[in-house]
Amino acid sequence: MGSSCFARGNEKIVALCESFLAARGLKDEVDVVLGASLCAGNCAKGPVVIINGKTHTHVDEGVMTDLLEDLFPAKGQ
Ligand code: FES
Repeated sequence: MGSSCFARGNEKIVALCESFLAARGLKDEVDVVLGASLCAGNCAKGPVVIINGKTHTHVDEGVMTDLLEDLFPAKGQ
């Protein structure tokens, strides 16, 4: 949530994560912390999202949805 990533839409990414987890009923099942930090030092490649210590760059809503689907596949898949 540094200013560059924020300006590029990271607040939408956080909202997407929250709604995805709610829709999948995962908020009470998994230990997820949606945290915001200051600049990750990679502004030119933002928005930047860090998941389990791995940095993802150029994360738009489509990329974030793919990341979430990989992390939390729908039951039955
Ligand atoms: S503001 Fe996101 S990497 Fe700098």
